[in-house]
Amino acid sequence: MKLAQRRQQIDSSGIRKIFDLASKLKNPCNLSIGLPDYDVPEVVKESAIEAIRKGQNRYTLTAGLPALRERIKQLYADRGQPVEDVMIASGTSGALFLAFLALLDPGDQVMLPDPYFVMYKALPRFIGAEPVFVDTYPDFRLRREALEAAWTPRCKMLIVNSPNNPSGAVASEEELRMVAQFADEKGLVVLSDEIYEDFSYDGAAPSLGRFSDPARTIVISGLSKNVAMTGWRLGWVTGPKDFILALSDIQQYSFVCAPSVAQAASFAALDYDMSAVRADYGARRDTIYNGLRDLGYSVARPGGAFYIFPEAPNGDGEAFVRRAIEKELLIVPGKVFSERNTHFRISFASSQEQLRRGLDILGELKREFAGG
Ligand SMILES: Cc1ncc(COP(=O)(O)O)c(C=O)c1O
Repeated sequence: MKLAQRRQQIDSSGIRKIFDLASKLKNPCNLSIGLPDYDVPEVVKESAIEAIRKGQNRYTLTAGLPALRERIKQLYADRGQPVEDVMIASGTSGALFLAFLALLDPGDQVMLPDPYFVMYKALPRFIGAEPVFVDTYPDFRLRREALEAAWTPRCKMLIVNSPNNPSGAVASEEELRMVAQFADEKGLVVLSDEIYEDFSYDGAAPSLGRFSDPARTIVISGLSKNVAMTGWRLGWVTGPKDFILALSDIQQYSFVCAPSVAQAASFAALDYDMSAVRADYGARRDTIYNGLRDLGYSVARPGGAFYIFPEAPNGDGEAFVRRAIEKELLIVPGKVFSERNTHFRISFASSQEQLRRGLDILGELKREFAGG
């Protein structure tokens, strides 16, 4: 079948090669997964089952259940970061896609700090917009010079993702203030993807929404990561009223609404106390970071999410990952998330035992690739 040119915007061949190799392994140490290693909490499941039984199985209003929109508005108000309006979307991915559709015209450019979550590069291209990359290596910090170097007069939007996938970096207040100031000067819309907000190990991750002009600020988040509802597809977008109205109109003609049952169960999910999970994942972060550092890897300490992004000892992330897979360790080459092929991503959403097994293999690989 002759497919649209748009299809070429997604290059999943690299990652598919890895998964093909991985599918042949008998007992892999899988540190490649981008979701928590626990199931949806019982209270949330019960709430969904009750909603189904009560008949909450129909379309909801396009923008989401009014009570849920209010609950999320309240969540931001309680943090001292009031938002004008909220729309419920089919996952954070659905929210991102709609936001790009609503804001970008063909030829517009989107500034992406590199490394980046894969969709930020692919989705704007679907609509003829272009990503431009802002270098954050080697410590994955946002710097004014790098923003200046990447900016062109065609830039319309700047994306910030903190805590970050794939680096685990949590942007500081100073970085976010600098970004907000830069966006002000250039008249950019800022889109802050905060889906990993509950996984921040050294204090709460500050939100860009606290520092940037509300008239040009979009904050996106959701429930896929914290309560492990990845398959339930629940995300949200906050922003100015006119923008949320545009988004709802596009949602009406595409996704229609976010899944009704997931919306009904979101109240229980939003009430769920994440402190035990956070402490547990914080300990895993320490195991993997300390382990890699002691092995001599060049690596930045992640403050959040459940990823760490070390440099491959020979500087070739893909070759390193291929060899790791031969040794039954599943990790992801950095070039999936970057214009560089120098790093690799480890997910520490795995047991301490698996992390230690992974570190043993990474120790062997370090000796093999760097001679010691
Ligand atoms: C940074 C980031 N944003 C968005 C998403 C998409 O999440 P959702 O399941 O809500 O669509 C992911 C998932 O891996 C992610 O890492």
